[in-house]
Amino acid sequence: MSVTVRVPAKVNLHLGVGGVRADGFHELVTVFQAVSLYDIVEATPAASLGLTLTGADTRGIPQGTDNLALRAAVQLAERLGVEPAVHLRIDKQIPVAGGMAGGSADAAAALVACARLWGADTDHPAIAEVAERLGSDVPFALSGGNALGTGRGERITPLAGHGRFHWVLAEAEQGLSTPLVFGEFDRRAARAGAPAADTGQHRTALLRSFADVLDSGEAARLAPLLGNDLQDAALALRPELDATLRLGRRAGALGALVSGSGPTCAFLTEGAASAADLSEFLLGSGCCRAVRTAHGPVPGATVIDPADAA
Ligand code: C5P
Repeated sequence: MSVTVRVPAKVNLHLGVGGVRADGFHELVTVFQAVSLYDIVEATPAASLGLTLTGADTRGIPQGTDNLALRAAVQLAERLGVEPAVHLRIDKQIPVAGGMAGGSADAAAALVACARLWGADTDHPAIAEVAERLGSDVPFALSGGNALGTGRGERITPLAGHGRFHWVLAEAEQGLSTPLVFGEFDRRAARAGAPAADTGQHRTALLRSFADVLDSGEAARLAPLLGNDLQDAALALRPELDATLRLGRRAGALGALVSGSGPTCAFLTEGAASAADLSEFLLGSGCCRAVRTAHGPVPGATVIDPADAA
């Protein structure tokens, strides 16, 4: 019997970057929103560990045991004391190396699917432990919704908010490496000579400003709160993204920012109809490889009926 899990991409509504820690990671304070752009991961019992990748664009995804979803399966099996005898089939819609946590999403989905396959509860503590170890964005992909992320991004505090927001997501021709973007951020910070941002103060300010806005569903109130400390670094590495952001703003987006470490650009719109219009316009402009509309927040990795994955 297979288990099928649907897992969302994320947008960082706000991403504040602090100093570099002893382990080389940056201290972060971020507001995540899970959006309705999904990967599907199906776990099937098999004689040995295996992986099949399908979807819009699977270029650059590791196929071996360095694949994050396979690592998730292996580490969970070890922790539960079972054999990692599972075949994972990943159908990818989330852009690869796009700043939308696609790899982390697949790892989170693999954890939920394998836990179910191996008879562990979906809230078994091993899932959260392995998730934290695997990557900074994996715990959020499990929880979904809106959340504050601190530490290196892996410490999640859910944020209430029932308002629905509408996004247009413009995918770039080529992905961007997250470590490369953080490296560029560090070089720029060193050149500017400014002290690292105080993430504690930032956290308090973010909690205060996002509190009712996420519940209101009013895009015009969310737009001024959007921000990304990694954006200038991503634009320095990919100057053409600046034109994409300007184009979207001129065409009516209420807010525009690079998602996470990029290069996907996220545009906040008034509603579903304006998102569809902007999407069509951006696609026609030829500025990007693909354009999607999505809404958020949506739940994190969830077991579904395979018929709903089609
Ligand atoms: O945790 P994850 O594997 O997603 O991180 C990928 C890379 O991004 C890290 O190896 C590191 O170079 C950079 N990173 C960072 N600080 C963070 C998160 C990620 O420097 N808080």
